[in-house]
Amino acid sequence: MSEKNNEKVSEAQIAVHWKEEGYFEPPKEFIAQANIKDDKVLKRFSMENFPDCYKEYADMLDWYKPYTKILDSSNPPFFKWFIGGKLNASYNCIDRHLPKYKNKTALHFVPEPENEPIQHITYQELYVRVNEMAALLRDFCGLKAGDTVTLHMPMIPELPITMLACARLGIIHSQVFSGFSGKACADRIVDGKSKVLITADSYYRGGGLLDHKEKADIACDGALKEGQKVDKVLIWQRYPGKYSAKTPLVKGRDFIVNDLLKDYKRARVEPEQLPADATLFIMYSSGTTGKPKGAQHSIGGYMSYVTGTSKYIQDIHPEDVYWCMADIGWITGHSYIVYGPLALAASSVIYEGLPTHPDPGRPWRIAEELDVNIFHTSPTAIRALRRVGPDEPAKYDYFFKHMTTVGEPIEPEVWRWYYNVVGKKKAVIVDTWWQTETGGFLCSTLPAVHKMKPGSAGPGVPGIYPIIYDDEGNILPAGSGKAGNICIQNPWPGLMMTIWGDDERYVQVYYQRYNKDPKSKDWHDWPYFCNDGAVQAADGYYRILGRIDDVINVAGHRLGTKELESAALMVSEVGEAAVVPVADPIKGKVPHIFVSLKPGVKASAELEKKVTDTLASEIGPIAKPAKVWIVSDMPKTRSGKIMRRVLAAIANKQDTGDITTLANPQVVEEIKNMA
Ligand code: WTA
Repeated sequence: MSEKNNEKVSEAQIAVHWKEEGYFEPPKEFIAQANIKDDKVLKRFSMENFPDCYKEYADMLDWYKPYTKILDSSNPPFFKWFIGGKLNASYNCIDRHLPKYKNKTALHFVPEPENEPIQHITYQELYVRVNEMAALLRDFCGLKAGDTVTLHMPMIPELPITMLACARLGIIHSQVFSGFSGKACADRIVDGKSKVLITADSYYRGGGLLDHKEKADIACDGALKEGQKVDKVLIWQRYPGKYSAKTPLVKGRDFIVNDLLKDYKRARVEPEQLPADATLFIMYSSGTTGKPKGAQHSIGGYMSYVTGTSKYIQDIHPEDVYWCMADIGWITGHSYIVYGPLALAASSVIYEGLPTHPDPGRPWRIAEELDVNIFHTSPTAIRALRRVGPDEPAKYDYFFKHMTTVGEPIEPEVWRWYYNVVGKKKAVIVDTWWQTETGGFLCSTLPAVHKMKPGSAGPGVPGIYPIIYDDEGNILPAGSGKAGNICIQNPWPGLMMTIWGDDERYVQVYYQRYNKDPKSKDWHDWPYFCNDGAVQAADGYYRILGRIDDVINVAGHRLGTKELESAALMVSEVGEAAVVPVADPIKGKVPHIFVSLKPGVKASAELEKKVTDTLASEIGPIAKPAKVWIVSDMPKTRSGKIMRRVLAAIANKQDTGDITTLANPQVVEEIKNMA
């Protein structure tokens, strides 16, 4: 069967074999203290009350000038929120908290080396440092509202300080994940047209102090080749007063921020009063194919949305110690480490390094030491911690009231470990589904209102109305048992305004598929196409199957790779699993499965058979992998996502492409030798 024929098979035919999981009730103690205790909020955010319901989120912020219109939808799909209003994100995250909370910790910075003291930065100190940095950006760099700067910074407190300094002046920041290469940074400098790059000399990751400044040189050279000159590179020192990189400074271009700041001691910069629809930042989507897409987020809509969802879904109170283990270089870190939690005056934890360094007890020691009571991480991290330290959480005395999982579908087996072992059966869990482009959560249970169901994200969050369409545009109703393409029917304040510099691509990627009339000025005609597959159970909960591209078509039978991986994890010896499609002359595509084992377990032919048999019994013979690869570890990005693209290339005997940005490129060689 040719590729072409395969593509004709409707998404509606994605096989769904998940078993229905049982419910878990939110703990009574959690409900008693929750920001949202009952379901009245759902009425307030009902479709009849759209878009006025979002006033509730905007009211959580301080505005210089009130908005005159909640939603301007006159030019769909380019939506504008809180029109006429003026505000400042930095003011909302810092200044307004000073009267009450100036001595409260805003950021706890936990360095990776365990013998280095934790830094507790108060709101007052944050205020001082952000003002000084803002003065430097304005007076030394000549930056002003509407200019762009690229940040390529690791997980150090200077990253949010720099972001908030930009926000204070209306400078648009574009933070590139620090694990990305100099080349990837160059591409984003070019796309963002930045003349200033802000970076750091070094940071700790996995036990070593990495030279980060060398990437800045590659980034500037690369950008110049594409016609974008970087005039200034600002370098934060990991250890103030000491330059910890080997690469020399380029005269006239490179400047040490810590030195420059001496000239701005006690400087104060009035926050700019900015229009709600001005741009706060650009964040490039995590997609690895094609030209990077810069999601362009607004100040008013975005800030309202992340503040509202941090309060209602993350249940953040000012007295909480909140730790999201994501990297600030991703959208999760922007929305739910920096802007949302700080707007609510929480104490937010920033951890520099690897969760498993120096051992898998580290996260739980940090939680114990800082009294973290809200914990937020990804299935990838949960799987890794479960694999290498399944019994570690029990050794530490911490209490989580609330835990989040985000970023990929979580297998019910892994969910249960998170609930039983990490949460000690006392924490509520929210499985939050959303995207870089969406600014904040789309689907999740309301933690004190809805029951939890392992593996399901839950219903749309207040004000979000998802819908599942098949390829022909028919609605697949709840309980149909069929998976299709999940879309959001209505716009919401957190939604990006456009793709930076590419309105056409914004329309083409996210709307074209289900828009019936490109001339329509009615927002109802513009459902947002998420590019994810999903199925809605009879109870209304959505289960996300992952990117539509992650579907394997075996002899016309469509299998979600996630579903196969989830089944493989039911084999108790298996730590992680990744399924990739491999070309087959007869069946079109067949699945190969890569598994890594828990520590102490040895690879064997019996184990391979056990994996194959489990897939066949859990899902059906069609899911039998053509090959089981038992590997020592998965090739992973620096953020911990398994690089299925690399595994697929090896299994298909193709070139693996550039693997230098991986956390563990040596594993690739090892797996190649098994082929
Ligand atoms: C996937 C991260 C299942 C999904 C916030 C989405 C999820 C992509 C979940 C966006 C979840 C995110 N369950 N899948 N709870 N959360 N995804 O842009 O495929 O880095 O489209 O944003 O991750 O990834 P991004």
